[in-house]
Amino acid sequence: MSTTDIPTQPNSATRTNHPLMLPVVITMDGPSASGKGTLARRLAKELGYTYVDSGAMYRTLAWYCLQKQLPLPVKAAELTPETEKPVISLMRRWKAELKIVEGAIWLQVDGYFPKAEIRSDVVEKAVPIIAQIGKVRDWMVARQRDCVKFGPLVMEGRDIGTEVFPLATLKFFLDANPAARAKRMQGRGNTACTERDKLDMNRRQGALIPALDAIRVDNTGQTVDETFALLMEHVRARMKPGQP
Ligand code: CDP
Repeated sequence: MSTTDIPTQPNSATRTNHPLMLPVVITMDGPSASGKGTLARRLAKELGYTYVDSGAMYRTLAWYCLQKQLPLPVKAAELTPETEKPVISLMRRWKAELKIVEGAIWLQVDGYFPKAEIRSDVVEKAVPIIAQIGKVRDWMVARQRDCVKFGPLVMEGRDIGTEVFPLATLKFFLDANPAARAKRMQGRGNTACTERDKLDMNRRQGALIPALDAIRVDNTGQTVDETFALLMEHVRARMKPGQP
């Protein structure tokens, strides 16, 4: 292979054209109700980056499996090569595409993004189970990496700083104490998240854990504005000309 054959990063053009050395991908991981969705969206808007909700991609697959009436395992213990097979084979056949809509990337299936449907209770229960399937995670991680073709990103999830973009230059891991998170979940009428977080933390592949180089932010007792100001301080520190 000559040096000219060596592929360059797909986002290198965006990077060099940018007046300041902004990181191309900002990762935002954390458990449910840690505030990562709200803050990732706000950060993306502020910086003019594209926002990506990686959890919505897993939810879309769970919804699609339910739509197709697949016999889904209901407990992690029921996952075996046999029970995983229908999900994997459906995922290999579905017509799923990344689409950018109003500054955010969504996975559309058959040209449709099931925005409301993916928040239903049935999807909520199914998603952490199918998210344990190794081949599902491989497929999702590859799609999430493909998102760089749309330009600089703020991507939120569970394993974005550890698995999807381990070389990202700016990583956040958001958290809040269990009481604060429980209160936020209740406010949303959603209490099934604790079980989901447990499953996410204990899986073998793509577990919910902070990357070693992530900036950990515990926002217990903070307002969204306060946490946002803190995150922006870190972003500005990275924007200083001359810093890699
Ligand atoms: O909004 P919330 O943080 O509660 O969840 P979400 O981001 O919508 O993710 C839903 C589920 O998808 C999680 O509980 C995980 O099981 C799975 N997920 C994942 O495995 N990896 C990601 N990067 C994002 C989500």
